[in-house]
Amino acid sequence: MRRVLILGANGGLARHTTDVFLKTTDAALTLYLRRASRLKNPDPKRVRIVDGDVLDARALMAALRHQDVVYANLAGDMKRQADTIIEAMHASGVKRLIFISSMGIYGEVPGERYRNVLDPYRDSAAVIESSNLDYTVLRPGWFTQDEEINYQITQKGEPFKGHNVSLNSLSDLIVKLATTPGLHVRQSLGVYKA
Ligand SMILES: NC(=O)c1ccc[n+]([C@@H]2O[C@H](COP(=O)([O-])OP(=O)(O)OC[C@H]3O[C@@H](n4cnc5c(N)ncnc54)[C@H](OP(=O)(O)O)[C@@H]3O)[C@@H](O)[C@H]2O)c1
Repeated sequence: MRRVLILGANGGLARHTTDVFLKTTDAALTLYLRRASRLKNPDPKRVRIVDGDVLDARALMAALRHQDVVYANLAGDMKRQADTIIEAMHASGVKRLIFISSMGIYGEVPGERYRNVLDPYRDSAAVIESSNLDYTVLRPGWFTQDEEINYQITQKGEPFKGHNVSLNSLSDLIVKLATTPGLHVRQSLGVYKA
């Protein structure tokens, strides 16, 4: 049974993925979010809810105790968030990090220049890639509500070949990454509809 800490657990993708964890695995989840009263506990036997800001290093360290995997589903000041996560993970000995970023951070989407709107995504990915964590950075296309699970991945250095990706596809990949030791470790993956 894997113990997964979900940071930014009230995010749209995080909520979708929480459901998939609960339906398809026996993982124990810690949902970490600001203003935790917004979330109802979907399964008190397997889910713990923690009120916290990712930039609060002490609260984060406390939440990291007894975890196997961190899944960070954040937005905003992502470079500071990534710095805080890396330091707290080093200090607590948790190595496995799945970090949601965005397509376009390396200029890998043909014909698209996203410039400074992607700076927080680019800068956070850069510090994670230079850490010695067992990270997987995900660079998804635009999220859709399509039911299908249908995706391809590209490695860093390869051109991104799509535009969209369904939430179901992303959750499928995140759950596989969190529950399969060694899968795509120290890789940055483009993810898009096949
Ligand atoms: N939508 C798309 O098509 C698309 C495509 C590619 C990439 N992405 C990116 O993928 C990521 C995940 O997507 P999403 O739809 O789940 O995003 P989202 O709904 O905006 O969720 C991001 C979460 O981060 C939380 N957060 C921000 N700062 C925090 C902090 N200091 N401490 C704790 N939590 C914090 C927010 O919490 P609060 O609720 O407290 O503000 C929010 O719940 C985002 O960065 C998004 O931009 C999205």
